[in-house]
Amino acid sequence: MTLPPLAAYPALRLRRPRQADWSRRLVRESVVTPADLIWSMVVHEGEGRIPVASMPGIERLSVQEAAKAAVQARELGIPAIAIFPHIDGATKDADGSRAADPDGVISRAVRAMKDAAPEVGIMCDVALDPFTTHGHDGVLERGRVVNDATIERLVEQALVQARAGCDILAPSDMMDGRVGIIREALESDGFQDVMIMSYAAKYASAFYGPYRDAIGSGKLGSGEVDNPGDKKTYQQDPANTDEALREVALDIAEGADLVMVKPGMPYLDVIQRVVETFSMPTFAFQVSGEYAMIMAAAQNGWIDEERAILESLGAFKRAGCAGVISYFAPRAAKLLGA
Ligand code: PBG
Repeated sequence: MTLPPLAAYPALRLRRPRQADWSRRLVRESVVTPADLIWSMVVHEGEGRIPVASMPGIERLSVQEAAKAAVQARELGIPAIAIFPHIDGATKDADGSRAADPDGVISRAVRAMKDAAPEVGIMCDVALDPFTTHGHDGVLERGRVVNDATIERLVEQALVQARAGCDILAPSDMMDGRVGIIREALESDGFQDVMIMSYAAKYASAFYGPYRDAIGSGKLGSGEVDNPGDKKTYQQDPANTDEALREVALDIAEGADLVMVKPGMPYLDVIQRVVETFSMPTFAFQVSGEYAMIMAAAQNGWIDEERAILESLGAFKRAGCAGVISYFAPRAAKLLGA
């Protein structure tokens, strides 16, 4: 961009269009609407609603409550809901076998939500971590998360989710090759219409902390089996963006319909590069830690909660996102006056 000559400045007053609400609206470059939101939600195996301590305002929902929430999403104009399971610790094992349980809480929730509000898209997380005793997204062998054995389990889980009626499968595990293999399995099982949103560029981030509390996955590096204390051997190094582009390129080649960058706000530069490079529908995941930071500061009176929520969501649209996966979705939709 070239600046106008200095002499132009007395007449060039950038504040002019900012002086009234009507003119601000007229020149606005990006907007958030309820249609940009995917509501991130945790479901649990018991009854009722259980508050999540590290995420003020968020509750784990029973299958029945999740079905009610789907109706609410429809009323609020929220197009889709992403569900994550909280699993009873006593039923977990080292291989995460219950991930492929056709009567597990995810299958039951998908069926109940699609019954209650068939117009709302349901997205499921394809990953083993809610179901493993050690909290890793894969199968462990001698203290290492092994890629190909993990994918076999992810395919079983993905097919169970598709059979339950899930509309979008979202592999969040960061194993190599899983998008292509899941795509193939969907095609050969008659699920050619089920979409894949890949967690294409997912970073080994500190911002997932409250999520582990929400879904009840224990502390990494502890327990009965030898397991790494972090996810750095499969999730990306926060220092890298070229690598993110290679990850996205591969997932597109393997058949991803939609791509995601995660976390959101600390990675806006990555989002912008992904959008510019691939022109794919690109989503940001405003993760649990981002939610918790805003809520904690607001509860201390340090920031204005409602403005911070909308400003944070607006940043993703400005960076070029098609939409945002967020725990704020229902509140934001209400604030936006759906
Ligand atoms: C794991 C998974 C994580 C999240 C979604 N799927 C956590 C992780 O990778 O450790 C994080 C969501 C959030 O923090 O809101 N498969």
